Amino acid sequence: MILEKKARFNPTKLASVYPSGDLDLLIARNAELVDRYLRLVPSYNGAMSEMSTKLEVLDDEFSLLLDHNPIHHLERRLKSPSSILEKMIRKGYPLTIDSLKENVHDIAGVRVICNYISDVYQLSDMLLSQDDVQLMRRIDYIETPKPSGYRSLHLIVTVPVHLSTGSEHIPVEVQLRTVTMDVWASLEHELNYKTDHTPSEEMKARLINCAGAAAELDRHMEELLQTSRSSAAADQQAVS
Ligand code: GTP
Ligand code: MG
Repeated sequence: MILEKKARFNPTKLASVYPSGDLDLLIARNAELVDRYLRLVPSYNGAMSEMSTKLEVLDDEFSLLLDHNPIHHLERRLKSPSSILEKMIRKGYPLTIDSLKENVHDIAGVRVICNYISDVYQLSDMLLSQDDVQLMRRIDYIETPKPSGYRSLHLIVTVPVHLSTGSEHIPVEVQLRTVTMDVWASLEHELNYKTDHTPSEEMKARLINCAGAAAELDRHMEELLQTSRSSAAADQQAVS
């Protein structure tokens, strides 16, 4: 199942990097960049579809061969022009189309919500072993969670997209996480959004505790999966 997410724009985030906070003015001042970006949308859309298809094929194959679906569901979204501008200003990138192509690698984003931790790493290894998928960056926030407690495996990869002018390698951000990690990330985002991005120290500490509890749950579920696989293998051997 693929959920098409609406790109969410956060006015508070914009106001913190663009003092007037006036989105219309920002867009009007960068009309050429926005216009040129809009002409690239088919490439980014193509890359996003390409990546989703690759993941669905892997999930289908797992299901057939191993009787197991590693993917709970997929989500995808294209970054909106306003969020792109906000990010470029926040990061201090020049507001040009070349800089956008070179620096902003999460315009096309696919989130892969997996069942177990082992599914995250298996899917990532399989994706990265495909000839036409090139890895630009891998950040393992499962191995080393962010100070907030956030856990996920992030990959920035390029995939070829065939256009009328030839083929281009377009970047896609792939975030792989378990259902449990996703629950934590969604609720943490929601809580911080509601509190205007200024959570108290106490709130942060409690969220870190929840992240620890979520990680513990993932470890237990992984152990259960491995135990159930070993018993199934033993049963199989006993029959043959
Ligand atoms: P962005 O401009 O936000 O894309 O940040 P970045 O390019 O510096 O990369 P980073 O790896 O920090 O974050 C990329 C994405 O991961 C974010 O857009 C979120 O979707 C997710 N993420 C990162 N940190 C957190 C966190 O602390 N909480 C939640 N809920 N999500 C996070
Ligand atoms: Mg991002």
